[in-house]
Amino acid sequence: MSNSQKKAQVGVIGLAVMGSNLARNFAHHGHTVAVFNRTTSKTEAFIQEHGTEGEFIPATTMADFVAALERPRRAIIMVQAGAGTDAVISQLADLMEPGDIIVDGGNALYTDTIRREKEISARGLHFVGAGISGGEEGALNGPSIMPGGTVESYESLGPLLESIAAVVDGTPCCTHIGPDGAGHFVKMVHNGIEYADMQVIGEAYHLLRYAAGLEPQEISEIFREWNQGDLDSYLIGITAEVLAQVDAKTGKPLIDVIVDAAGQKGTGRWTVKDALDLGIPTTGIGEAVFARALSGARTQRAAAKGNLPAGELNNLEKLNISRADFVEDVRRALYASKLVAYAQGFDEIIAGSKKYEWNVDPRDLATIWRGGCIIRAHFLNRIVEAYNDNPEVESLLLAPYFTKEMGDSIDSWRRVVVAATQLGLPIPVFASSLSYYDSLRAARLPAALIQGQRDFFGAHTYERIDLPGHFHTLWSGDRTEVEA
Ligand code: 6PG
Repeated sequence: MSNSQKKAQVGVIGLAVMGSNLARNFAHHGHTVAVFNRTTSKTEAFIQEHGTEGEFIPATTMADFVAALERPRRAIIMVQAGAGTDAVISQLADLMEPGDIIVDGGNALYTDTIRREKEISARGLHFVGAGISGGEEGALNGPSIMPGGTVESYESLGPLLESIAAVVDGTPCCTHIGPDGAGHFVKMVHNGIEYADMQVIGEAYHLLRYAAGLEPQEISEIFREWNQGDLDSYLIGITAEVLAQVDAKTGKPLIDVIVDAAGQKGTGRWTVKDALDLGIPTTGIGEAVFARALSGARTQRAAAKGNLPAGELNNLEKLNISRADFVEDVRRALYASKLVAYAQGFDEIIAGSKKYEWNVDPRDLATIWRGGCIIRAHFLNRIVEAYNDNPEVESLLLAPYFTKEMGDSIDSWRRVVVAATQLGLPIPVFASSLSYYDSLRAARLPAALIQGQRDFFGAHTYERIDLPGHFHTLWSGDRTEVEA
């Protein structure tokens, strides 16, 4: 019910689905919530539809909205990330007083968040970039929340956010991530991992469908079964649901009538761009982003379809692989590739945290990603354990659980990559993750040759395995070596 006397503990600006669900979630947890939308009819519709779910204070102007909040004011902006966000922040900041807190709960680019935090904190206000994961359903019933900003802002904001977050084993899926852009940075990498996770699931489906010849309904059952084991996760669960869905219009499996061109809003791409800048090989996420891009290159694909030679293709029978064995191999290849993608994502988080001096604790992320968010999964507990055992572990793949899983999966993984290649089926993340893994564990890499080539054409010098210093061979001279 609306109430104009009472002050609100929190306010939400932007009443599209995410904002309205978040406001309702706060109200369901006993908070009075001020709500505001640029288009007043949207606010009215919200109150009409949800006004009885808790205490709401609808505002028709930004000034009324700000006046409705108790101090320090806590206002969460839930508008589409981009230029519009700056306008809303600036309007809000003009009406606020020192100590008040502005939260951006959208998928903002973390460098924008760093800039905004600087501008807003100079005015004596707090600016918190908070990653919120879980989609519409999560926003309503318990998301995973990744707030950045000052420790001081978290003292006031934290309990409120924790009260609406998902809870796993008694722990809320919300914690202070680190200063300024830290929250949005980790949300960005979360989304990058989400891309890789979805892609490896897609590759597994594709192989079961077109190599093993199983029907979507049968594959749905297989995913349901996989969801009982190591792979237990939200994304595997919804995959089983999607595959079981029958299209009402045609009676066909829904998957067969959906155009195979994947969309993307940009967070996966940002993750990869940043990984490139940080020098972190997030190959799984990169291949997943490129796979979406390639799927969306519809004109090019239409031109290539049937017009590029495939070479001699095989099938499982000729390869002497039973269907049952293949299904198990695919499960293992999926899990191994997934672990690689997570290990790479955590490498990027650690590198970003170092660069910006955020002091992000990777255990916190693995903990708050266990519930609410899109990549929630049982195995995240293993990541917490890995960093507990050794906070300095060079790669998650070197933590005992991961190494053992890799050992148990490697033969299956190789067989799947070989089989898919011989069947002409694309597996960009399965294959590139295996190459990453083999590169990581390799005694020698062809990088020595690259160093030789660089020295040849550009006198870029190389290091020797047996002597300290940098060296150059006089390639266009007498080819003796000099110290650089
Ligand atoms: C989440 C999701 C969400 C994201 C969608 C769409 O954590 O709840 O990551 O924030 O916006 O998944 O992303 P794409 O459109 O880029 O696939």
